[in-house]
Amino acid sequence: MIEITSFLIEGREGNVITDNPRIRFSFSFRSDRDNVSLSKAIISLNGWSVETDRQTGIYYEGEPFEPFTTYTAKVKVVDSDGEEAEREASFETGRKRTPWIGTWITDGSYEFTEKQASPEIMVFRKRFSVGKKVKSAKLYSTVLGIYDVNLNGNRIFNKYFAPGFTSYEHQLQYQIEDITSYLKDDNEIYFILAGGWAVGAYVMNRANRIYADRQALLCEIRIRYEDGTEEVIGSDESFEVNRHSPYLDADLYNGESYDARIDYRTGEFHSASLENVKINPMIVAEYGAPVIAHERLQCHIVGRYGESTVYDFDQNFAGVVSLKIRNAKEGQKIVIRHAEILKEDGHVCTAILRSAKQIVTYICKEGDQEYSPTFTYMGFRYIEVEGIDPEDIEIEAIVLYSDIKQCGSFECDDDKINRLQQNIVWSSKSNFVDIPTDCPQRDERMGWTGDIALFAKTGTYNFRLNQFLEKWLLDMKSEQKKSGAIPTTIPHKGYGFPLTFPTVATDFWGDACVLVPYAIYQATGEISVLDSNFDMMKKYVDACKWWANLLSVGKRRYIWSNISFIHFGDWVAPGESMAECQGRHKWTATASLYNTSNLVSQIAHILGKEEDSRRYADLASKVASAYQDVFFDNDGKLRKKEFQTGYVLPLYFGMLDEEMAPKAAAHLAELVKKDDYKVYTGFPGTPYLLFALADNGYEKEALKMLLQEKDPSWLHEVVTGGTTIWERFDGLDDDGKLNVPEDGTGGMISFNHYSFGAVGDFLYRRILGLEAVEPGYRSFVVKPMLNDHFNHCEGNVTTPYGEVKVSWKKENGVFDLSLDIPCSSSCTVILPGYEERFTSGHHLVKVNYDTENEIHCD
Ligand code: BGC
Repeated sequence: MIEITSFLIEGREGNVITDNPRIRFSFSFRSDRDNVSLSKAIISLNGWSVETDRQTGIYYEGEPFEPFTTYTAKVKVVDSDGEEAEREASFETGRKRTPWIGTWITDGSYEFTEKQASPEIMVFRKRFSVGKKVKSAKLYSTVLGIYDVNLNGNRIFNKYFAPGFTSYEHQLQYQIEDITSYLKDDNEIYFILAGGWAVGAYVMNRANRIYADRQALLCEIRIRYEDGTEEVIGSDESFEVNRHSPYLDADLYNGESYDARIDYRTGEFHSASLENVKINPMIVAEYGAPVIAHERLQCHIVGRYGESTVYDFDQNFAGVVSLKIRNAKEGQKIVIRHAEILKEDGHVCTAILRSAKQIVTYICKEGDQEYSPTFTYMGFRYIEVEGIDPEDIEIEAIVLYSDIKQCGSFECDDDKINRLQQNIVWSSKSNFVDIPTDCPQRDERMGWTGDIALFAKTGTYNFRLNQFLEKWLLDMKSEQKKSGAIPTTIPHKGYGFPLTFPTVATDFWGDACVLVPYAIYQATGEISVLDSNFDMMKKYVDACKWWANLLSVGKRRYIWSNISFIHFGDWVAPGESMAECQGRHKWTATASLYNTSNLVSQIAHILGKEEDSRRYADLASKVASAYQDVFFDNDGKLRKKEFQTGYVLPLYFGMLDEEMAPKAAAHLAELVKKDDYKVYTGFPGTPYLLFALADNGYEKEALKMLLQEKDPSWLHEVVTGGTTIWERFDGLDDDGKLNVPEDGTGGMISFNHYSFGAVGDFLYRRILGLEAVEPGYRSFVVKPMLNDHFNHCEGNVTTPYGEVKVSWKKENGVFDLSLDIPCSSSCTVILPGYEERFTSGHHLVKVNYDTENEIHCD
């Protein structure tokens, strides 16, 4: 018997509303028999059908869809034994190109001119009656700003910060909510608008009004009556507005001030005005992964200092507090500061937040009440509360991040490594907040391209990220410069850097346009993400080549050495000043040019573009030989000052010839030993460091680095109490003291930056040994690096074909493996002296191996 376990439309299950004309399908199935694969599937929808032998990346090619319509698709699966199963999935179309009946409205009396501040909150009201029996009613709405909606006393969003953050000049998402069950005969709907990213203070220079001078609302309420008629209420001057609300202030960085004595429904409303918005984006049904509430965390008191109480949630994260207050006096003021670490005196340390305040101020009404912020979020583990006795308040936290599913897990018999994996997962959650951000706390929280470029592979092991990242890639595509350069942050508007050279390509940061789609492709097997971003990749690599070639001759044309101040080089390499990190750009940029041209060549081949494939392969090989000839001596040693990243990148990317690679690897191993197995790589080198060692015969050195506990290293963060990944390994020194360098980077100590967590890739692929061979895990290997430190390891990955489960333990030369392979997948288990291929089903494998073949860690 077979059973279809998932049938996804647009990568989602249930509640899919889309404006996409070419929707995509994927499905997985399970069987009670082993060795089962797909023979064929037939997908049908709207009079169209296709027969396929694929399970992912299947596209609708039928007639255009109607707007506002529910469709049901059907999949019929026939397996390799001829067994069959069927399943249906429904989705709804959005407005598509239907012209809005509503128009942009605002509070025309509001002149918001203040700099570096967020605007006053606007509250819009519409009263309307329904005279007939309602069959269904939906709200279609979006804003410039961020918003919440309340209908007849009911909060109708379960999401935060709608409409989400996009490159608003190009695309803006609208939300769709079914409001049928909230409707009465006489209705009152309120839209509460804060500044958010479009109008509020955002980016580190605290620019504001980046996309709009003040907030604006666009909406339609579409009511279908039982008698077959339809009524549409669009936003217009009949809506009322005022700025009298309990939200005294709401700002992404600064926090929220809320006066519970004020009821936003009771203010003096006046007519809304039509707004002439200065941008003209495509307004599209929400296609990203909106921010929603996830875990709820408890806290405990860690210190009382006069008027204030310090609480610890035992976990650093992004989110908001949720308060239950008892017996409050009217006007009582509660102030809550949020921070990632404590100062030596026990108070919260807010200095490293730079200009971000992260403060909640709550003014009570009389009696018992509850409150949680709506228009802000903070990155924190500790809070310091003033203005209330601990007996009178119950505090929890709501963890906020995008609506993404965790699809991978890793666990082993070393608790510190398990904590490292948890830290990677928590930093992912904290920075997958509508866009991939660098950090969730200080005055940045921006879509820094380099951070996700280097972390995407690890990110996609742990989370299903296609929807989330493909939304962001669309913005990247829109914002790519004519020159081919990719801005260093996406969305970029408001943040000037690099101000004077907007057309200059930046290595590794710009590489996001190649590395992110490629990581999604590897995780899902869906070619469309390569196809739709291919032109962007080509333009980018061509731009990098142009900059590398500029003003140089001969071999040096392929050494990308110019304009160091727009390269980040070996960014935040421990012990190096900012200038020193950037000074390494020659090595990092050249290696980046090799890697992207090599990947674009492979991607071109996947897409059947053979001429492109040859062209970029040729470029890659020229860059590789230039790196080898210019940077290495004949003995495989870096000619100038040695540094780990200088070896790691060419080794991992495979840039060195057969003779040179082992020599360079030996020098890296020596250097690492000299460095006492501490990690001295910056952002670009870190994801690849352990592979560069282990895959070149230095497994023991790789393990010693992974297990190193002294500063700087991954486990240093764990043993000094880190619950997330830090921006810099040396954020705290070996004694746990805050390390504030005096080289200009002192303001850059975030304790929640996922980039260095890219070591997670090594945990999955070399420690657990699970590695995809074909994208989407259609075939994969289990090939752990046997060693005497890890004796048990297990991990799961939800692949597009279903659950892969790997669990092994070893004792006295016996390797004991339990393996689950989904239908249509296969796995080859590789151990010293053993190799066997398995097809779908549950397998118990016992292999005797020679313990001589194990790596001894000492
Ligand atoms: C961010 C980084 C980013 C970097 C680039 C920092 O301020 O937090 O993660 O990639 O700037 O310069």
